[in-house]
Amino acid sequence: MDRFAGLILANRAFLDHASPPGAPEAATPATEGGLLAAVRPIIATWDGDHGTTWIGAGCGPFDREFVDGRGFEIIPTAHGPLRHRRLFFGDETWHGHYRETANGFLWPAMHIIELPLPDITAYFPRPRTPSASAWAAYEQVNDAFAAAADATAAGEPVWIHDYQLALVPALLRDRGASMPIGFFLHTPFPSMPILERVLDREGLARFERIVTGILGASLAGFQSEADASRFIDAAERLGATRAGNRLAFRGRETCVGAYPVGIDADELLDVARAAGPITLFDPPATPVPLVVGLERADYTKGIPERLAAVRRAYDAGLAFSYAGVAAPTREGVAAYERLASDVENAAAEAARAARAHGRVFTHVHRNLPWVEVVGLQRDADVIFTSSLADGMNLVPLQSAIAQSLRPVGERAVIVTGKGAGVASAFAGFEQDGLVTVDPLDPAAMDATLRAAVAGELPQVSDRLIAAVRSRDARAWATRFLTDLEEIRC
Ligand code: G6P
Repeated sequence: MDRFAGLILANRAFLDHASPPGAPEAATPATEGGLLAAVRPIIATWDGDHGTTWIGAGCGPFDREFVDGRGFEIIPTAHGPLRHRRLFFGDETWHGHYRETANGFLWPAMHIIELPLPDITAYFPRPRTPSASAWAAYEQVNDAFAAAADATAAGEPVWIHDYQLALVPALLRDRGASMPIGFFLHTPFPSMPILERVLDREGLARFERIVTGILGASLAGFQSEADASRFIDAAERLGATRAGNRLAFRGRETCVGAYPVGIDADELLDVARAAGPITLFDPPATPVPLVVGLERADYTKGIPERLAAVRRAYDAGLAFSYAGVAAPTREGVAAYERLASDVENAAAEAARAARAHGRVFTHVHRNLPWVEVVGLQRDADVIFTSSLADGMNLVPLQSAIAQSLRPVGERAVIVTGKGAGVASAFAGFEQDGLVTVDPLDPAAMDATLRAAVAGELPQVSDRLIAAVRSRDARAWATRFLTDLEEIRC
């Protein structure tokens, strides 16, 4: 199976209409987040009766002008037409669901995998227990998705994505739906013992609802074995019984497994081929290694820690250029504003250190065209990511493919935070150019950057490139959907 003829449920629509009908669609944002990037390649075109139906929220300013009375539209894509349904919500409901519950509570909670991060960094927010009305809004949105799936599906499998819709599996079952239900969590799944130290009693009760919501699925997929086993632990604490990777809870059974996501390697390679030379900064007169940092401007990505390491490296006299691009995300959510100011300060200090040593440093907080992002991935000598915790982090995978255009011996080293899914999915590739580091250990960050700039670390190998290709988005979806069909674990 390489295309999915069933229902995809995701908080995000396939695309948001930023222009009225008839006007050209705005380009895809540069760093759109892992969910869309992973799921987009597996949609099956709609032939009038069959194909993928994508159900997502209507968040674009012109969305209503494109849909029929029930929210349906056919979206032309590069691969053919996609059947799409949008659900619309009022501002207050959306605020409670998306800002307060999904982003203010669940997103930080999901990333507490090993350490109580809010106690350790100055900027990682403590998950805020949603108010009763915000939680009610989250339930309402989840119920609307469950109702839409129930009304749209004719027995085909339903694949629900991510923490914004974690109640949908159980809500669908409560409606009597009997089709196979898959749930995939794109983020990490947290450690309950650590989360207990960070949440208040009500927050914990809400989080337990998330776990029981997911237990409505026939198959629950996670990015890594560690995430899957933390979920199993959370379910057992609530009374689920376990046999292997199968959980029994309230008369239902859920298979649990690890399904690390991948990318569309061919599409990425096409973009890497089409990318022109870098225009983000003027290259220095004497060539030095180029270190690149790319991500959504999220507090899970370890950006302040990286910029501090870059500043120390300039102060220590290392010769390199740095280009950082942090794509704006979730603007208006308080923790992101706090992060933006910490990043701005760290970038200003790194820029001062670079100037003092006559080096090129640039950090931008904006959306760059995708082709320019991929151009940076292709032309970098060091790809420096540093997530504190991350479901996967697709940047290292994209960079490995973009680097395949360069000959062996002239390729980059890719650095990843040890808590990113990519570090566990590609464990054993340290000699193939994928090096891990603890972003919270300044000495390790300094040593890694120094060795990377000096060319002492292994470069991206053909073995890494082949592995990224063979574990691509289609392989990921095929594994998940085959297991869902056969209810196998
Ligand atoms: C991560 C999440 C996705 C989310 C994306 C972008 O990849 O796992 O569910 O869609 O970030 O975030 P946003 O809040 O803009 O949808």
